[in-house]
Amino acid sequence: MGRHRKGAGDVNGLAGRTAVVTGGAQGIGAAVAERLCAEGCRVLVYDKSAEHGRAAVDAWRARGHEARLAVGDVTDGAAVAAAFAGLPDGWPRPTLLVNLAAGFVFKGLEATPEEWHAALDPTLVGLSLVVREFTAGLPERAAGAAIVNMASISAHIAQSGYLTYNTSKAAVLGFTRCAAEELAPRGIRVNSVSPGTVWNAGNERYHREVLGLDRAAAEAAPEHGGKFLLGRFADPAEVAAPIAFLLSSEASFITGADLPVDGGYLAV
Ligand SMILES: NC(=O)c1ccc[n+]([C@@H]2O[C@H](COP(=O)([O-])OP(=O)(O)OC[C@H]3O[C@@H](n4cnc5c(N)ncnc54)[C@H](O)[C@@H]3O)[C@@H](O)[C@H]2O)c1
Repeated sequence: MGRHRKGAGDVNGLAGRTAVVTGGAQGIGAAVAERLCAEGCRVLVYDKSAEHGRAAVDAWRARGHEARLAVGDVTDGAAVAAAFAGLPDGWPRPTLLVNLAAGFVFKGLEATPEEWHAALDPTLVGLSLVVREFTAGLPERAAGAAIVNMASISAHIAQSGYLTYNTSKAAVLGFTRCAAEELAPRGIRVNSVSPGTVWNAGNERYHREVLGLDRAAAEAAPEHGGKFLLGRFADPAEVAAPIAFLLSSEASFITGADLPVDGGYLAV
């Protein structure tokens, strides 16, 4: 009783499927994993944080969901392969993949080669390793298989001091389009989402500690929440929902696309 949304799996083709969510231990990724659990998926969280991953997965399992954690870095190809190989007996092969793990490096032109690697290795190279492993495990024809990558409004714009991050997220858009073309003959769809500011623990801490603002004050400020047409930040669940849609059979003719989930930010 109550294992997944009543009836939801009947209409969107997600129930009973196996999903892999990188960066799913906390923040938006945890909301995605939780949403996919609620849709009746079996969910493997692949994350470098054992502490957050275990807490999240234990909580979902306590509620009757089928969730597992594999601890590893997306830049570690052997660990990625081991995670896919180590899925529990009886789980169907993964046909859904959400890539959220990223390098959070905010530097301008002064960025060193090491900082560029810290930005691009997880967001781009790690992404490619996970997608390669996921697609290698699929049959030649894999209609219904779907991938969603995490871009950002930052992929679409210039922001002072954000050269490394914004470039890494722009690369996600290019990767998504090219992978969509390469994988279309196999029936595998690849899309991305571009969220605006999402109110998670990291943003809560940043606004409180650096700017001295709670959520209400930050959302009321023209340069923060006021940047978004809707005048507020997103909750993680508001990003998880369109990701679930893009994975689902409801989005069966959408591939190579980027969906802004940004309260209207990119519209003006
Ligand atoms: N928070 C926002 O406002 C916002 C907006 C737009 C896009 N995004 C994107 O959404 C995604 C999630 O962001 P978040 O704010 O929820 O972050 P978060 O820090 O709350 O969670 C990120 C998770 O990814 C894991 N991770 C990081 N690097 C990894 C690696 N190399 N290998 C494996 N796991 C790794 C972390 O351990 C963590 O659990 C990121 O791609 C981020 O760029 C966030």
